[in-house]
Amino acid sequence: MAMLRALGHIRRMRGGAQSHLMRCSDGHYYVVKFQNNPQHPRILVNELLGTFLAKHLGLPVTPVAVIEVSPELIRLTPELCVELPRARVPCSPGLQFGSRYPGDPHRVTMLDFLPDELLMQVSNLHEFAGMLVFDKWTCNTNGRQTLFFPRELGDREQAERVYETVMIDQGFCFNAGEWTFPDAPLRGLYARNKVYSGIIGRESFDPWLERLEKNVSERLLHKLIGEIPPAWYADDLDSVNRLGEQLLRRRGRVPELILSARNTTRRPFPNWV
Ligand SMILES: Nc1ncnc2c1ncn2[C@@H]1O[C@H](COP(=O)(O)OP(=O)(O)OP(=O)(O)O)[C@@H](O)[C@H]1O
Ligand SMILES: [Mg+2]
Repeated sequence: MAMLRALGHIRRMRGGAQSHLMRCSDGHYYVVKFQNNPQHPRILVNELLGTFLAKHLGLPVTPVAVIEVSPELIRLTPELCVELPRARVPCSPGLQFGSRYPGDPHRVTMLDFLPDELLMQVSNLHEFAGMLVFDKWTCNTNGRQTLFFPRELGDREQAERVYETVMIDQGFCFNAGEWTFPDAPLRGLYARNKVYSGIIGRESFDPWLERLEKNVSERLLHKLIGEIPPAWYADDLDSVNRLGEQLLRRRGRVPELILSARNTTRRPFPNWV
């Protein structure tokens, strides 16, 4: 994984973690979450580990990186601060989490939502089924969040599939700072049922369930945990390892967790009859 330096501040992003868009040493832009964000230092662990794991399930994610922010840059940039109810404190220097902005933020606008009518124009809409496998497995206690952006269309592609979606915000996987798994039927679902219209039965989740069994091993978790800066988990390696063990053990529960979502009165999968 790349280890990068932040070179400049662009703007503050909205949201509970108070992230900042920054230009980094690889020439790309990253949305950076700081160790002293108002949610929990562990959400940086969740973002990095969660995104790696989603990638190993074959899901669409943005590249992520550990980003070093120097004390000088923070000192010279008054906007780099955390707003607390009664105080403003500077963002912490050192190693932070970054999620790459797909493209140049001055030119490409990212959308947090698409209206239902436009969701049908998302080329990889079927991957929301795989995201649910991931979110049930990791017990994401926030709804699933993605970004939508216009695709660069090749000549022979259908012009009606004009958007693409990527997963962002794995911060509340493993129940945020708790690292527990309070499973509940509606947890982890995306806000719009429309994204699940391609689901026609259990088999619709199979590609990701298979990768969960095949690709995720004790060795992989050990390797991924090794990439996390220890400061993000307060040097408490026991707790991270326990998290990894629980993740391994939980893999087999995902089908029943999906079934219990299906059986709610929300009926999230309209075409699974
Ligand atoms: N890789 C990225 N590229 C572009 N925009 C991003 C990226 N990651 C996050 N954002 C944007 O930054 C904002 C905050 O991101 P995110 O949801 O991860 O943080 P958050 O503080 O948990 O937000 P919230 O509390 O609203 O869920 C969102 O508007 C999101 O669209
Ligand atoms: Mg969010």
